[in-house]
Amino acid sequence: MKGLVYVETYGCQMNVSDSELMLGRLAADGYVEADSPADADVILLNTCAIRDHAEQRVLGRLGELKGLMKATAVVGVTGCMAQRMGPALLERARHVSLVIGPDGYRALPALLERARAGERAIETSFDLEEHYEDFTPRRFDRVKAWIPVQRGCDYRCTYCIVPMTRGAERSRQLPDVVREVEGVVAEGISEVVLLGQTVNSYHDGVAGFADLLRAVGQVPGVRRVRFTSPHPNDFSDEVVAAMAEVPTVCEHVHLPMQSGSTRVLRRMLRRYTREGYLECVQRLRDAIPGLCLTTDVIVGFPGETGEDFEETLSAVEAVGFDDAFTFKFSPREGTPATRMPESDTVPDEVATERLERLIALVRAGARARNLGLLGQRREVLVERTARRGDLLQARTRDFKTVLVPGDESLIGKYLHVELTGTTGSTFTGAVIPERKALPVA
Ligand code: SAH
Ligand code: SF4
Ligand code: F3S
Repeated sequence: MKGLVYVETYGCQMNVSDSELMLGRLAADGYVEADSPADADVILLNTCAIRDHAEQRVLGRLGELKGLMKATAVVGVTGCMAQRMGPALLERARHVSLVIGPDGYRALPALLERARAGERAIETSFDLEEHYEDFTPRRFDRVKAWIPVQRGCDYRCTYCIVPMTRGAERSRQLPDVVREVEGVVAEGISEVVLLGQTVNSYHDGVAGFADLLRAVGQVPGVRRVRFTSPHPNDFSDEVVAAMAEVPTVCEHVHLPMQSGSTRVLRRMLRRYTREGYLECVQRLRDAIPGLCLTTDVIVGFPGETGEDFEETLSAVEAVGFDDAFTFKFSPREGTPATRMPESDTVPDEVATERLERLIALVRAGARARNLGLLGQRREVLVERTARRGDLLQARTRDFKTVLVPGDESLIGKYLHVELTGTTGSTFTGAVIPERKALPVA
Protein backbone atom coordinates (compact mmCIF):
# COMPACT_ATOMS: atom_id res chain seq x y z
CA MET A 1 0.00 0.00 0.00
CA LYS A 2 1.33 3.42 -0.98
CA GLY A 3 -0.73 5.35 1.54
CA LEU A 4 -4.16 6.57 2.57
CA VAL A 5 -5.89 9.14 0.36
CA TYR A 6 -8.79 11.37 1.30
CA VAL A 7 -10.76 13.24 -1.38
CA GLU A 8 -13.27 16.00 -0.64
CA THR A 9 -15.47 17.16 -3.51
CA TYR A 10 -16.99 20.60 -4.13
CA GLY A 11 -19.11 21.85 -7.02
CA CYS A 12 -21.13 20.01 -9.63
CA GLN A 13 -21.66 16.35 -10.54
CA MET A 14 -18.85 16.61 -13.07
CA ASN A 15 -16.52 17.14 -10.14
CA VAL A 16 -18.02 14.19 -8.28
CA SER A 17 -17.36 12.11 -11.36
CA ASP A 18 -13.80 13.44 -11.62
CA SER A 19 -13.20 12.55 -7.97
CA GLU A 20 -14.37 9.01 -8.73
CA LEU A 21 -11.88 8.88 -11.61
CA MET A 22 -9.01 10.21 -9.46
CA LEU A 23 -9.71 7.77 -6.63
CA GLY A 24 -9.98 4.93 -9.12
CA ARG A 25 -6.65 5.88 -10.64
CA LEU A 26 -4.95 6.18 -7.25
CA ALA A 27 -6.42 2.86 -6.09
CA ALA A 28 -4.88 1.23 -9.16
CA ASP A 29 -1.60 2.80 -8.09
CA GLY A 30 -1.75 1.26 -4.61
CA TYR A 31 -3.52 3.92 -2.56
CA VAL A 32 -6.37 3.12 -0.18
CA GLU A 33 -9.23 5.50 0.55
CA ALA A 34 -9.18 7.17 3.99
CA ASP A 35 -12.34 7.94 5.94
CA SER A 36 -11.06 11.18 7.39
CA PRO A 37 -8.42 13.79 6.51
CA ALA A 38 -6.73 13.21 9.89
CA ASP A 39 -5.64 9.69 8.88
CA ALA A 40 -4.67 10.53 5.32
CA ASP A 41 -1.22 10.62 3.76
CA VAL A 42 -2.70 12.48 0.80
CA ILE A 43 -5.56 14.98 1.00
CA LEU A 44 -7.15 16.20 -2.22
CA LEU A 45 -9.72 18.99 -2.36
CA ASN A 46 -11.50 18.77 -5.72
CA THR A 47 -12.72 22.32 -6.04
CA CYS A 48 -15.27 24.56 -7.74
CA ALA A 49 -14.83 28.15 -8.97
CA ILE A 50 -18.37 28.95 -10.08
CA ARG A 51 -19.04 31.63 -7.44
CA ASP A 52 -16.78 33.44 -4.99
CA HIS A 53 -18.51 31.66 -2.12
CA ALA A 54 -17.45 28.26 -3.50
CA GLU A 55 -13.81 29.35 -3.45
CA GLN A 56 -14.05 30.93 -0.01
CA ARG A 57 -15.27 27.62 1.38
CA VAL A 58 -12.23 25.85 -0.02
CA LEU A 59 -9.83 28.46 1.35
CA GLY A 60 -11.50 28.11 4.75
CA ARG A 61 -11.22 24.35 4.58
CA LEU A 62 -7.54 24.56 3.64
CA GLY A 63 -6.95 26.61 6.76
CA GLU A 64 -8.83 24.10 8.87
CA LEU A 65 -6.84 21.19 7.45
CA LYS A 66 -3.62 22.67 8.78
CA GLY A 67 -4.75 21.82 12.29
CA LEU A 68 -6.17 18.42 11.35
CA MET A 69 -3.71 16.74 9.07
CA LYS A 70 -0.67 14.63 9.79
CA ALA A 71 2.57 16.64 9.55
CA THR A 72 3.73 14.37 6.74
CA ALA A 73 0.53 14.59 4.71
CA VAL A 74 0.52 16.03 1.19
CA VAL A 75 -2.30 18.44 0.34
CA GLY A 76 -3.43 18.85 -3.25
CA VAL A 77 -6.00 21.16 -4.79
CA THR A 78 -7.62 19.87 -7.97
CA GLY A 79 -10.55 20.94 -10.15
CA CYS A 80 -11.82 24.28 -11.37
CA MET A 81 -10.35 26.52 -8.66
CA ALA A 82 -6.95 24.87 -9.15
CA GLN A 83 -7.21 25.62 -12.86
CA ARG A 84 -8.32 29.20 -12.27
CA MET A 85 -5.77 30.16 -9.62
CA GLY A 86 -2.83 27.97 -10.60
CA PRO A 87 0.44 29.11 -8.97
CA ALA A 88 -1.40 31.72 -6.87
CA LEU A 89 -2.78 28.84 -4.81
CA LEU A 90 0.71 27.62 -3.96
CA GLU A 91 1.58 31.12 -2.78
CA ARG A 92 -1.60 31.55 -0.84
CA ALA A 93 -1.44 28.23 1.03
CA ARG A 94 2.07 27.11 1.97
CA HIS A 95 0.91 23.61 2.95
CA VAL A 96 -0.48 22.93 -0.52
CA SER A 97 2.03 21.15 -2.70
CA LEU A 98 -0.07 19.98 -5.63
CA VAL A 99 -2.29 22.00 -7.98
CA ILE A 100 -3.97 20.09 -10.80
CA GLY A 101 -6.67 21.28 -13.20
CA PRO A 102 -9.50 19.15 -14.65
CA ASP A 103 -7.45 17.93 -17.65
CA GLY A 104 -4.37 17.02 -15.61
CA TYR A 105 -5.43 13.98 -13.58
CA ARG A 106 -3.46 11.58 -15.76
CA ALA A 107 -0.34 13.09 -14.18
CA LEU A 108 -1.72 12.71 -10.65
CA PRO A 109 0.22 9.57 -9.56
CA ALA A 110 3.53 10.93 -10.87
CA LEU A 111 3.01 14.42 -9.42
CA LEU A 112 1.99 12.87 -6.13
CA GLU A 113 5.28 10.99 -5.94
CA ARG A 114 7.15 14.23 -6.45
CA ALA A 115 5.02 16.05 -3.89
CA ARG A 116 5.59 13.29 -1.35
CA ALA A 117 9.31 13.65 -1.99
CA GLY A 118 9.04 17.30 -0.99
CA GLU A 119 8.51 19.10 -4.30
CA ARG A 120 5.65 21.39 -5.18
CA ALA A 121 4.01 20.54 -8.48
CA ILE A 122 1.47 22.14 -10.75
CA GLU A 123 -0.38 20.91 -13.85
CA THR A 124 -2.93 23.20 -15.45
CA SER A 125 -2.59 22.62 -19.17
CA PHE A 126 -5.65 21.69 -21.19
CA ASP A 127 -5.73 18.43 -23.09
CA LEU A 128 -8.51 18.48 -25.63
CA GLU A 129 -8.30 14.73 -26.15
CA GLU A 130 -8.57 13.85 -22.48
CA HIS A 131 -11.50 11.69 -21.32
CA TYR A 132 -9.64 9.41 -18.86
CA GLU A 133 -10.93 6.54 -20.97
CA ASP A 134 -8.56 4.02 -19.37
CA PHE A 135 -9.31 5.03 -15.74
CA THR A 136 -11.65 2.81 -13.71
CA PRO A 137 -13.72 5.09 -11.47
CA ARG A 138 -14.18 4.25 -7.82
CA ARG A 139 -17.94 4.89 -7.62
CA PHE A 140 -19.25 6.45 -4.40
CA ASP A 141 -22.89 5.77 -5.20
CA ARG A 142 -24.09 2.17 -5.40
CA VAL A 143 -27.51 3.06 -6.85
CA LYS A 144 -26.87 5.51 -9.66
CA ALA A 145 -23.79 6.04 -11.80
CA TRP A 146 -22.43 9.36 -13.05
CA ILE A 147 -21.33 8.93 -16.64
CA PRO A 148 -19.36 11.86 -18.07
CA VAL A 149 -20.07 12.04 -21.80
CA GLN A 150 -18.67 15.48 -22.58
CA ARG A 151 -16.01 17.71 -21.02
CA GLY A 152 -15.54 21.47 -21.35
CA CYS A 153 -17.91 24.07 -22.75
CA ASP A 154 -18.07 26.03 -26.01
CA TYR A 155 -20.74 28.48 -24.86
CA ARG A 156 -19.48 31.77 -23.48
CA CYS A 157 -22.14 32.91 -21.05
CA THR A 158 -20.74 36.24 -19.89
CA TYR A 159 -21.01 35.46 -16.16
CA CYS A 160 -19.44 32.03 -16.33
CA ILE A 161 -15.94 30.81 -15.41
CA VAL A 162 -16.43 27.23 -16.65
CA PRO A 163 -15.08 27.73 -20.20
CA MET A 164 -11.90 29.08 -18.56
CA THR A 165 -11.60 26.24 -16.06
CA ARG A 166 -12.58 23.32 -18.23
CA GLY A 167 -11.58 24.37 -21.71
CA ALA A 168 -13.22 23.56 -25.01
CA GLU A 169 -16.09 21.14 -25.45
CA ARG A 170 -15.33 17.59 -26.47
CA SER A 171 -17.41 14.41 -26.44
CA ARG A 172 -16.52 10.82 -25.69
CA GLN A 173 -17.07 8.21 -28.38
CA LEU A 174 -20.52 6.66 -28.12
CA PRO A 175 -19.24 3.05 -28.00
CA ASP A 176 -17.00 3.98 -25.03
CA VAL A 177 -19.97 5.46 -23.17
CA VAL A 178 -22.10 2.39 -23.89
CA ARG A 179 -19.31 0.12 -22.68
CA GLU A 180 -19.09 2.04 -19.41
CA VAL A 181 -22.86 1.81 -18.97
CA GLU A 182 -22.76 -1.95 -19.57
CA GLY A 183 -20.06 -2.12 -16.93
CA VAL A 184 -22.10 -0.31 -14.30
CA VAL A 185 -25.11 -2.53 -15.01
CA ALA A 186 -22.87 -5.54 -14.41
CA GLU A 187 -22.06 -4.01 -11.02
CA GLY A 188 -25.78 -3.93 -10.19
CA ILE A 189 -26.51 -0.27 -10.93
CA SER A 190 -29.64 0.46 -13.00
CA GLU A 191 -29.77 4.28 -13.10
CA VAL A 192 -27.27 6.31 -15.10
CA VAL A 193 -26.85 10.07 -15.25
CA LEU A 194 -25.14 11.40 -18.37
CA LEU A 195 -23.00 14.43 -17.58
CA GLY A 196 -21.86 17.42 -19.61
CA GLN A 197 -21.94 21.21 -19.25
CA THR A 198 -24.30 21.41 -22.24
CA VAL A 199 -24.87 17.70 -22.40
CA ASN A 200 -27.42 17.74 -25.22
CA SER A 201 -24.87 19.31 -27.58
CA TYR A 202 -23.04 15.97 -27.31
CA HIS A 203 -21.58 14.90 -30.66
CA ASP A 204 -18.77 12.40 -31.16
CA GLY A 205 -18.35 13.11 -34.87
CA VAL A 206 -20.80 10.39 -35.85
CA ALA A 207 -23.50 10.25 -33.20
CA GLY A 208 -25.43 13.06 -31.52
CA PHE A 209 -27.26 13.24 -28.19
CA ALA A 210 -30.44 11.63 -29.55
CA ASP A 211 -28.37 8.62 -30.68
CA LEU A 212 -26.67 8.54 -27.30
CA LEU A 213 -30.00 8.51 -25.43
CA ARG A 214 -31.26 5.68 -27.61
CA ALA A 215 -28.05 3.65 -27.27
CA VAL A 216 -27.70 4.08 -23.51
CA GLY A 217 -31.44 3.72 -22.92
CA GLN A 218 -31.43 0.34 -24.61
CA VAL A 219 -28.56 -1.20 -22.68
CA PRO A 220 -30.08 -4.30 -21.02
CA GLY A 221 -30.50 -3.73 -17.29
CA VAL A 222 -30.68 0.07 -17.51
CA ARG A 223 -33.98 1.21 -16.02
CA ARG A 224 -33.47 4.94 -15.64
CA VAL A 225 -31.55 7.40 -17.76
CA ARG A 226 -31.09 11.02 -16.68
CA PHE A 227 -28.81 13.77 -17.95
CA THR A 228 -27.55 17.13 -16.76
CA SER A 229 -27.34 19.97 -17.75
CA PRO A 230 -28.90 20.53 -21.13
CA HIS A 231 -28.89 23.90 -22.90
CA PRO A 232 -32.26 25.05 -24.32
CA ASN A 233 -30.71 25.69 -27.75
CA ASP A 234 -29.55 22.10 -28.08
CA PHE A 235 -32.99 20.53 -27.63
CA SER A 236 -33.42 19.59 -31.28
CA ASP A 237 -36.59 17.80 -32.35
CA GLU A 238 -34.52 14.61 -32.61
CA VAL A 239 -33.44 14.89 -28.97
CA VAL A 240 -36.99 15.60 -27.76
CA ALA A 241 -38.28 12.65 -29.81
CA ALA A 242 -35.65 10.33 -28.36
CA MET A 243 -36.59 11.43 -24.85
CA ALA A 244 -40.24 10.72 -25.55
CA GLU A 245 -39.64 7.39 -27.27
CA VAL A 246 -37.02 5.76 -25.08
CA PRO A 247 -38.91 4.31 -22.10
CA THR A 248 -35.94 4.41 -19.74
CA VAL A 249 -35.38 8.17 -20.17
CA CYS A 250 -36.94 9.78 -17.08
CA GLU A 251 -39.59 12.50 -17.15
CA HIS A 252 -37.36 15.20 -15.72
CA VAL A 253 -35.35 17.96 -17.32
CA HIS A 254 -33.11 20.36 -15.44
CA LEU A 255 -33.26 23.31 -17.84
CA PRO A 256 -31.24 26.33 -16.69
CA MET A 257 -33.17 29.51 -17.51
CA GLN A 258 -30.91 32.07 -15.78
CA SER A 259 -33.32 34.97 -16.42
CA GLY A 260 -36.81 35.57 -17.77
CA SER A 261 -35.84 38.87 -19.40
CA THR A 262 -34.71 38.79 -23.01
CA ARG A 263 -32.64 41.90 -22.41
CA VAL A 264 -30.72 40.23 -19.58
CA LEU A 265 -30.45 36.93 -21.46
CA ARG A 266 -28.84 38.82 -24.34
CA ARG A 267 -26.31 40.44 -22.01
CA MET A 268 -25.64 37.01 -20.49
CA LEU A 269 -25.04 35.70 -24.03
CA ARG A 270 -27.39 32.80 -23.35
CA ARG A 271 -28.34 32.78 -27.05
CA TYR A 272 -32.10 32.42 -26.48
CA THR A 273 -34.92 34.84 -25.68
CA ARG A 274 -37.62 34.58 -23.03
CA GLU A 275 -40.00 33.38 -25.75
CA GLY A 276 -37.44 30.90 -27.07
CA TYR A 277 -37.05 29.42 -23.61
CA LEU A 278 -40.82 29.17 -23.05
CA GLU A 279 -41.19 27.58 -26.48
CA CYS A 280 -38.56 24.97 -25.60
CA VAL A 281 -40.49 24.22 -22.39
CA GLN A 282 -43.69 23.84 -24.41
CA ARG A 283 -42.11 21.43 -26.89
CA LEU A 284 -40.80 19.32 -24.02
CA ARG A 285 -44.15 19.35 -22.20
CA ASP A 286 -46.04 18.45 -25.39
CA ALA A 287 -43.77 15.47 -26.01
CA ILE A 288 -43.37 14.18 -22.45
CA PRO A 289 -46.50 13.89 -20.31
CA GLY A 290 -45.95 14.52 -16.60
CA LEU A 291 -42.60 16.22 -17.20
CA CYS A 292 -40.88 17.64 -14.13
CA LEU A 293 -38.89 20.80 -14.81
CA THR A 294 -36.21 22.28 -12.60
CA THR A 295 -33.92 25.20 -13.34
CA ASP A 296 -31.11 27.56 -12.37
CA VAL A 297 -31.75 31.30 -12.05
CA ILE A 298 -29.29 34.15 -11.42
CA VAL A 299 -30.49 37.43 -9.89
CA GLY A 300 -28.59 40.70 -9.80
CA PHE A 301 -26.79 40.25 -13.10
CA PRO A 302 -25.22 43.61 -14.11
CA GLY A 303 -27.88 45.89 -15.54
CA GLU A 304 -30.82 43.80 -14.28
CA THR A 305 -33.61 46.31 -13.59
CA GLY A 306 -36.65 45.85 -11.39
CA GLU A 307 -38.62 45.31 -14.57
CA ASP A 308 -36.21 42.62 -15.78
CA PHE A 309 -36.54 40.87 -12.45
CA GLU A 310 -40.35 40.98 -12.66
CA GLU A 311 -39.99 39.19 -16.00
CA THR A 312 -37.96 36.49 -14.30
CA LEU A 313 -40.72 36.09 -11.71
CA SER A 314 -43.40 35.89 -14.38
CA ALA A 315 -41.40 33.35 -16.40
CA VAL A 316 -40.97 31.22 -13.27
CA GLU A 317 -44.73 31.33 -12.81
CA ALA A 318 -45.44 30.67 -16.48
CA VAL A 319 -43.26 27.55 -16.54
CA GLY A 320 -44.33 26.21 -13.16
CA PHE A 321 -40.96 24.79 -12.14
CA ASP A 322 -40.88 21.88 -9.72
CA ASP A 323 -37.75 23.35 -8.16
CA ALA A 324 -35.00 25.85 -8.84
CA PHE A 325 -31.45 26.58 -7.78
CA THR A 326 -31.27 30.31 -7.28
CA PHE A 327 -28.08 32.35 -7.17
CA LYS A 328 -26.97 35.89 -6.63
CA PHE A 329 -24.65 36.96 -9.43
CA SER A 330 -21.03 36.58 -8.38
CA PRO A 331 -18.45 38.40 -10.53
CA ARG A 332 -15.74 36.04 -11.75
CA GLU A 333 -12.41 37.54 -12.70
CA GLY A 334 -11.73 37.40 -16.43
CA THR A 335 -15.33 36.87 -17.49
CA PRO A 336 -17.01 39.41 -19.82
CA ALA A 337 -19.61 40.38 -17.19
CA THR A 338 -16.86 41.96 -15.08
CA ARG A 339 -16.16 44.38 -17.92
CA MET A 340 -19.71 45.76 -17.96
CA PRO A 341 -19.99 49.37 -16.74
CA GLU A 342 -19.66 49.90 -13.00
CA SER A 343 -22.98 51.75 -13.06
CA ASP A 344 -24.70 48.47 -14.07
CA THR A 345 -23.78 46.81 -10.78
CA VAL A 346 -26.87 45.75 -8.84
CA PRO A 347 -26.42 46.72 -5.17
CA ASP A 348 -26.11 43.73 -2.88
CA GLU A 349 -29.20 44.62 -0.83
CA VAL A 350 -31.26 44.79 -4.02
CA ALA A 351 -29.94 41.41 -5.21
CA THR A 352 -30.60 39.90 -1.78
CA GLU A 353 -34.18 41.13 -1.79
CA ARG A 354 -34.73 39.79 -5.31
CA LEU A 355 -33.27 36.44 -4.32
CA GLU A 356 -35.64 36.20 -1.35
CA ARG A 357 -38.67 37.04 -3.48
CA LEU A 358 -37.62 34.51 -6.10
CA ILE A 359 -37.07 31.76 -3.55
CA ALA A 360 -40.48 32.42 -2.00
CA LEU A 361 -42.14 32.19 -5.41
CA VAL A 362 -40.30 28.98 -6.33
CA ARG A 363 -41.25 27.40 -2.98
CA ALA A 364 -44.89 28.37 -3.28
CA GLY A 365 -45.08 26.99 -6.81
CA ALA A 366 -43.38 23.74 -5.86
CA ARG A 367 -45.64 23.36 -2.87
CA ALA A 368 -48.80 23.83 -4.93
CA ARG A 369 -47.61 21.35 -7.56
CA ASN A 370 -46.60 18.79 -4.96
CA LEU A 371 -49.88 19.06 -3.06
CA GLY A 372 -51.59 18.30 -6.36
CA LEU A 373 -49.67 15.03 -6.63
CA LEU A 374 -50.89 13.61 -3.30
CA GLY A 375 -52.71 10.32 -3.73
CA GLN A 376 -50.88 9.51 -6.97
CA ARG A 377 -48.83 6.35 -7.38
CA ARG A 378 -45.21 6.25 -8.42
CA GLU A 379 -42.39 3.83 -8.97
CA VAL A 380 -39.47 4.80 -6.75
CA LEU A 381 -35.86 3.72 -6.61
CA VAL A 382 -34.54 3.51 -3.06
CA GLU A 383 -31.31 5.56 -2.86
CA ARG A 384 -30.19 5.56 0.78
CA THR A 385 -31.27 5.64 4.39
CA ALA A 386 -32.92 8.94 5.24
CA ARG A 387 -31.49 11.25 7.86
CA ARG A 388 -34.71 10.85 9.81
CA GLY A 389 -35.16 7.69 11.82
CA ASP A 390 -35.79 4.35 10.15
CA LEU A 391 -36.93 5.79 6.83
CA LEU A 392 -35.44 5.31 3.39
CA GLN A 393 -34.96 8.02 0.81
CA ALA A 394 -36.29 7.07 -2.60
CA ARG A 395 -36.79 8.90 -5.88
CA THR A 396 -39.50 8.89 -8.52
CA ARG A 397 -38.74 8.99 -12.24
CA ASP A 398 -39.94 12.61 -12.14
CA PHE A 399 -37.28 13.43 -9.54
CA LYS A 400 -39.43 13.72 -6.45
CA THR A 401 -37.88 12.66 -3.16
CA VAL A 402 -40.09 10.20 -1.26
CA LEU A 403 -39.44 8.92 2.26
CA VAL A 404 -40.63 5.36 2.72
CA PRO A 405 -40.43 2.95 5.64
CA GLY A 406 -38.04 0.03 5.28
CA ASP A 407 -34.57 -1.23 6.01
CA GLU A 408 -31.24 -0.97 4.25
CA SER A 409 -31.77 -4.17 2.27
CA LEU A 410 -34.12 -2.20 0.02
CA ILE A 411 -31.41 0.23 -1.17
CA GLY A 412 -31.09 -0.09 -4.94
CA LYS A 413 -34.54 -1.71 -5.24
CA TYR A 414 -37.65 -0.40 -6.98
CA LEU A 415 -40.92 -0.06 -5.07
CA HIS A 416 -44.39 1.16 -5.89
CA VAL A 417 -45.66 3.79 -3.53
CA GLU A 418 -48.62 6.04 -3.01
CA LEU A 419 -47.70 9.65 -2.24
CA THR A 420 -49.37 10.18 1.12
CA GLY A 421 -47.91 13.45 2.41
CA THR A 422 -45.67 16.34 1.47
CA THR A 423 -43.66 18.97 3.29
CA GLY A 424 -44.07 21.07 0.15
CA SER A 425 -40.77 19.85 -1.25
CA THR A 426 -40.39 16.18 -0.29
CA PHE A 427 -42.98 13.42 0.08
CA THR A 428 -43.82 10.58 2.38
CA GLY A 429 -45.00 7.42 0.68
CA ALA A 430 -46.79 4.21 1.55
CA VAL A 431 -45.51 1.08 -0.15
CA ILE A 432 -48.12 -0.71 -2.26
CA PRO A 433 -47.42 -4.38 -1.52
CA GLU A 434 -49.38 -6.05 -4.35
CA ARG A 435 -47.01 -4.60 -6.95
CA LYS A 436 -43.91 -6.13 -5.39
CA ALA A 437 -43.81 -8.92 -7.97
CA LEU A 438 -42.72 -6.49 -10.69
CA PRO A 439 -39.44 -7.56 -12.29
CA VAL A 440 -36.42 -5.91 -10.76
CA ALA A 441 -33.45 -5.48 -13.04
N1 SAH B 1 -23.37 24.28 -17.72
C1 SAH B 1 -24.52 24.52 -16.96
C2 SAH B 1 -24.31 25.37 -15.75
C3 SAH B 1 -23.14 25.10 -14.88
S1 SAH B 1 -22.92 26.23 -13.56
C4 SAH B 1 -25.48 25.24 -17.85
O1 SAH B 1 -25.10 25.95 -18.73
O2 SAH B 1 -26.62 25.08 -17.60
C5 SAH B 1 -24.40 26.01 -12.61
C6 SAH B 1 -25.17 27.27 -12.42
O3 SAH B 1 -24.42 28.21 -11.67
C7 SAH B 1 -25.52 28.02 -13.68
O4 SAH B 1 -26.63 27.48 -14.34
C8 SAH B 1 -25.79 29.41 -13.17
O5 SAH B 1 -27.13 29.56 -12.78
C9 SAH B 1 -24.91 29.50 -11.94
N2 SAH B 1 -23.77 30.40 -12.16
C10 SAH B 1 -22.77 30.25 -13.05
N3 SAH B 1 -21.92 31.30 -12.97
C11 SAH B 1 -22.40 32.12 -12.00
C12 SAH B 1 -21.97 33.38 -11.45
N4 SAH B 1 -20.88 33.99 -11.90
N5 SAH B 1 -22.72 33.92 -10.47
C13 SAH B 1 -23.83 33.31 -10.02
N6 SAH B 1 -24.28 32.15 -10.49
C14 SAH B 1 -23.57 31.54 -11.48
FE1 SF4 C 1 -21.17 28.23 -18.20
FE2 SF4 C 1 -22.86 28.88 -20.12
FE3 SF4 C 1 -21.10 26.90 -20.49
FE4 SF4 C 1 -23.12 26.56 -18.81
S1 SF4 C 1 -23.30 26.90 -21.03
S2 SF4 C 1 -20.99 26.03 -18.44
S3 SF4 C 1 -23.39 28.57 -17.92
S4 SF4 C 1 -20.63 29.06 -20.25
FE1 F3S D 1 -17.85 24.34 -10.28
FE2 F3S D 1 -16.24 23.56 -12.17
FE3 F3S D 1 -18.54 22.35 -11.82
S1 F3S D 1 -16.62 25.65 -11.57
S2 F3S D 1 -19.86 23.96 -11.06
S3 F3S D 1 -16.89 22.36 -10.39
S4 F3S D 1 -17.54 22.74 -13.75
